Amino acid sequence: MCGIIGYIGKRQAKDILIGGLRRLEYRGYDSAGLAVLNQAGLSVQKSQGKLGKLVNQLQSDQCIGNVGIGHTRWATHGIPSKTNAHPHYDSKEDIAVVHNGIIENFRHIKTSLEAAGRRFTSDTDSEVLPHLIGSFYKGDLLQAVKGALRQVEGNYAIAVISTHEPTRMVAARKGSPLVIGLGENEHLVASDVTAMLEHTNQVVYIEDDEIVDINMEDVRISTLAGEAIQRNAATVMWDISQVQKEGYPHFMIKEIMEQPSSLRQTISERIQSGRVVFPELEPLRECLGNPDEFNQIVFLGCGTAYHAGFVGKYMIEKFARIPATVDMSSEFRYSSPVLTPRTLVVAISQSGETTDTLAAVRYAKEHGAAAIAISNVVGSSITREVDVTINMYAGPEIAVAASKTYTSQLAVLSLFALYVANLRQPLDADSTETLLKDILQLPSHVEKVLTQASSIEHIAKRYSTFNHFLYLGRHINYPSALEGALKLKEISYIHAEGYPAGEMKHGAIALIDDDMPVVCIVSESEVHEKMLSNIQEVHARKGRIIAIATKGDLEIEALFQDTIYLPQIHEFASPILIAVAFQLFAYYVAAHRGLDVDQPRNLAKSVTVE
Ligand code: F6R
Repeated sequence: MCGIIGYIGKRQAKDILIGGLRRLEYRGYDSAGLAVLNQAGLSVQKSQGKLGKLVNQLQSDQCIGNVGIGHTRWATHGIPSKTNAHPHYDSKEDIAVVHNGIIENFRHIKTSLEAAGRRFTSDTDSEVLPHLIGSFYKGDLLQAVKGALRQVEGNYAIAVISTHEPTRMVAARKGSPLVIGLGENEHLVASDVTAMLEHTNQVVYIEDDEIVDINMEDVRISTLAGEAIQRNAATVMWDISQVQKEGYPHFMIKEIMEQPSSLRQTISERIQSGRVVFPELEPLRECLGNPDEFNQIVFLGCGTAYHAGFVGKYMIEKFARIPATVDMSSEFRYSSPVLTPRTLVVAISQSGETTDTLAAVRYAKEHGAAAIAISNVVGSSITREVDVTINMYAGPEIAVAASKTYTSQLAVLSLFALYVANLRQPLDADSTETLLKDILQLPSHVEKVLTQASSIEHIAKRYSTFNHFLYLGRHINYPSALEGALKLKEISYIHAEGYPAGEMKHGAIALIDDDMPVVCIVSESEVHEKMLSNIQEVHARKGRIIAIATKGDLEIEALFQDTIYLPQIHEFASPILIAVAFQLFAYYVAAHRGLDVDQPRNLAKSVTVE
C-alpha cells in the first residue's frame, strides 16, 4: 500500500510528481504530499484525503523546483491526517523521505532518537527514517541512508532528498516495489511503472536490499553491503492510453469493457494448433507430467485472486486428476500445511506484491514445495520468489476492484489445467475440444455479455437500495458466487454473502425474506437441476431472485423476470462470463449509489502489509 514517486531533472518536479501520484492513487488515498527542493530549502505540502484535495490547495508558488518526492498513503500506523501524511522530514527540515512499507522496530528507534533530542511530529512508523538518516548524515546522503537502513527492520521502498545535496536522490527497497525510470537527463523513481509511462518506457526494477544513487545524468545501483550492480533497462510494453479513462466515467467500467481484448491477449499465444502451449512452464514440464513427482497442488491467493484459485482447484482436479486445495494466503502459513517436495504451489496475484501471498510462497518454498506464480505485473516481487511465472498480459488495471485481471486469471488457470492434464493422461477428447473451443471464443462470448450492459444496469438500478444480498452458486460456480458478493461489497458497501446453494437449507435459508435479493447462478451445468430446486426453495420463501442463466433456458425464462442471460458455453468456462455479469451488476449498483467506484473507502489495490 502507499505509492511513492520521485523526480530529478530539468523540468518542474511538481507537475510530474502529481501526474505520477494520480496513477499511483489506487495504492492508497488517505492522504497525499509532496516535497520539492529549491533555493529556500525544502518546500513541503500535504493534505489529508485524496490527491485532488492537495492539488486544489497547492498554490502556484509552492513546491517549485526540479527535484522532488511525492506520496499517496494508505494508513497503517497513525490515522489518516495531514500530520501523518508523507513526506516526513527531520527536525532541521533538511532531509525528506517518502516510504511505502512498515518499519517494525520504529518504537525502539524513535525512543532512542527522542532521547538524543530529536522531535517527532507524527504517529507514523515512517517518520523515524528522516531522523535516523539525519543522525547518520556526515556529508554523504548515500552513506547516511545506508547507515539508517542497517538499523531498521521491516519493509520499505523509500526515496530520500536533502537540502545538503540538492542534485541527488537516494532510493532503496526491501519488500516493497521500486522501479527507476530512465529519461534524457532526468530520472524517476516510483512504486510502479504506471506512474512514469508518460515520460519513459525504459525502466530498471530494483531488488530487495539494493540502494540507488541518482542524479540527472546517472543511476548507480548497489547492494546495501556496497557491491555495485549492473542491470540492463527493461522496456515496458504498456502504453499511456491503457492508464487513462478514455472517455469512460470510471476505470472500472473501462476495464470491464476491455475484457474481450485482455482475454485475447491472455489466450491467443497459448493455444496453437489445437494444443495448449506454455513455454514458461518448460522447467517444470517433467514434474508436471509425472504422477511420481507432483502429487498435490495448492492454490494460494487473497480476495479475488483466492476466488480464482478456488476455480483453479476444480479445474485441475477435473482435468488433470491431481488432488488440489485452495487456501487464503493470509491463513496458509498459520495452518500447518503439509508440504513436501512433491507439492506444487500455484500463487495467484495480479499485482505480484501482496505481502501475504509473498510470505505464503516463501513459507512453501522453505518447506520444500515448488512454486508457480500467475501475475499481471512483469518484474513484480512474486516473480523473484517462485520457480516459474506465468504472466497474464491483461494490461494495467487501475480500478481498485479487480475485473479484467480476474477473468485473465481464470483463463490462465483453465489453460494450465488442460496443459497439465495433457501431460498426464490422454483426455476425453470431446470435452477438451469443446472447452478449448470455448476458451478460444471467450472474447466473443464476453462481448455478448457486455452487450447486455444496459439491461444489467436497469436491474442494478432497481436493486440498488437494498442493503443485503445473497449470491448462490454450486460446484465450479460456488467461487463465482463468492466473487460476485465480494465485488458488490467492496464497491457499493452493501453487505453481500456468497454461499453454496446446497448448504442454504442448513441455516442461511432463515435469512430469506422479501428484503433479501438472492442472485442465483443457474447456468447450464452438471448441477443445473439441483440449482433449480435450490432456487425454488428461495422463491417459495418470497426471496427476490436475480437469475444468471443460459440463453434459451425456457424454465428460467418462465419463472423469473430479472434474469441475465449468458451465451451457451462449457461449464468450466462459465465462471468467466458470470464474473463479467457480476462486475457490471456491482458497478452499476455502486454508480447509482453515487459512490467512488474506482477508489472505494478503506481499500488499496496492492496490499503490501500483513
Ligand atoms: C478485489 C481485489 C482484491 C485483490 C487482493 C489480491 O477486487 O482486487 O481482493 O484480489 O487484494 O491482490 P493481488 O491479486 O494483487 O495479490
